[in-house]
Amino acid sequence: MAANRTFSIIKPDATRRNLTGAITAMLEEAGLRVVASKRIRMSREQAEGFYAVHKDRPFFADLVAFMISGPVVVQVLEGENAVKRNRDIMGATNPENADEGTIRKRFAESIEANSVHGSDSDENAAAEIAYFFKPEEIVG
Ligand code: TYD
Repeated sequence: MAANRTFSIIKPDATRRNLTGAITAMLEEAGLRVVASKRIRMSREQAEGFYAVHKDRPFFADLVAFMISGPVVVQVLEGENAVKRNRDIMGATNPENADEGTIRKRFAESIEANSVHGSDSDENAAAEIAYFFKPEEIVG
């Protein structure tokens, strides 16, 4: 299968603990290539738009506050079955349920401060990449 792309965020709990390199190394060891990366501070509007699908969920306000509480690193990852490959190395949303050897098992602090985001479908990956990156910022 041809290489494809997914979208990743290294979240504020991880940048705060200086885990950007350790997490990126795990992504690379899982066979993903970082073809775009930037460290940003998300605005409230950006975070609300990004998580709009969750806007009626009880955790939405806290999630937005968390995502703007510190810098994040947004990345485009490329590889075979990139979406699934990234979801597998991330581990379950709640670190209590994450498998050994996953990023969230190793680093996540809680279901909210769970260190990484990864797109859950090719369609969402394309939309999320376009939300944060211009085409010329992605160098495959
Ligand atoms: P979700 O899309 O369900 O998980 P994932 O990040 O694994 O795709 O949820 C998005 C984020 O919302 C999740 O990473 C952390 C936060 N969240 C909570 O804070 N509490 C919750 O109960 C859930 C389900 C998610």
